[in-house]
Amino acid sequence: MSAILLDGKQLSRELEAQCTERVQRLKEQGIIPGLAFILVGEDPASVVYVRSKNKACERCGIRSVTLRLPESISQEELEQELNKLAGDESIHGMLLQLPIPKHLDEAAAIACIPPEKDVDGFHQMNAGSLVIGTDGMRACSPLGIMDLLALSGVDPCGKHAVVIGRSAIVGKPAALLLLEANCTVTICHSKTENLASYTRQADILVSAVGKAGLITGDMVKPGAVVIDAGIARVEGKVTGDIERGSVEQVAGYLSPVPGGCGPMTIAELMVNTVSIAEKKAHV
Ligand code: GUN
Repeated sequence: MSAILLDGKQLSRELEAQCTERVQRLKEQGIIPGLAFILVGEDPASVVYVRSKNKACERCGIRSVTLRLPESISQEELEQELNKLAGDESIHGMLLQLPIPKHLDEAAAIACIPPEKDVDGFHQMNAGSLVIGTDGMRACSPLGIMDLLALSGVDPCGKHAVVIGRSAIVGKPAALLLLEANCTVTICHSKTENLASYTRQADILVSAVGKAGLITGDMVKPGAVVIDAGIARVEGKVTGDIERGSVEQVAGYLSPVPGGCGPMTIAELMVNTVSIAEKKAHV
């Protein structure tokens, strides 16, 4: 058996095309959606990510602004900059690219982003709304994972979903969205003993660790939906957690790296930004 590939690149193009049309309709009403990126320091991966997100804004007709701040910035200065953007009516969404330098308080910085401009869904109000099941902004990578799962056509209701990784950006919110979709959810992490005993039970397996080759074919239930949400670099090449060669032989569906979660995360960011602008315009 060879798994059906869940093509995140193609799906992201479709989402971006829908966003482009929605932006066009907003522009007809005189509204230009605006997204601000705040990049602190020179982390090379973050520079690349922000550049990709800017390009997506260009494709969709979203006005993007990138605020590059020095590595040495103080907490007070960072919060001042965030507060300025928070009060700017032309900015619909704000994204503080993570990680930020160690001397800064990440949670306090994110708290300066108004929850209704929090395109990342990282603000404690939005993270909390996911836990209690009320409306709020949702994190982009987990939204992408759910759309890739929907693309498989597999109904998540009652299925056993196993998520590996408990980050606030991917693992935890992905587990909560799967729970909201009526999956039975197991969260595994770096301290989990006998990981394979869990992954082999997964109808839906989401791996969000960033460790190349973590998941091999013998760890996967035949026919499972496998979504690789990991990012690692091996000899300069971007790779995920899934050992593709062996997993493809066993899984029913596979969202690979590259071409799966990466482009979907960016497309969901566009969707979140346009949705905020529409909400503000009462569309
Ligand atoms: N760093 C890695 N992924 C992300 C993301 O989705 N959003 C932000 N703000 N920073 C990140």
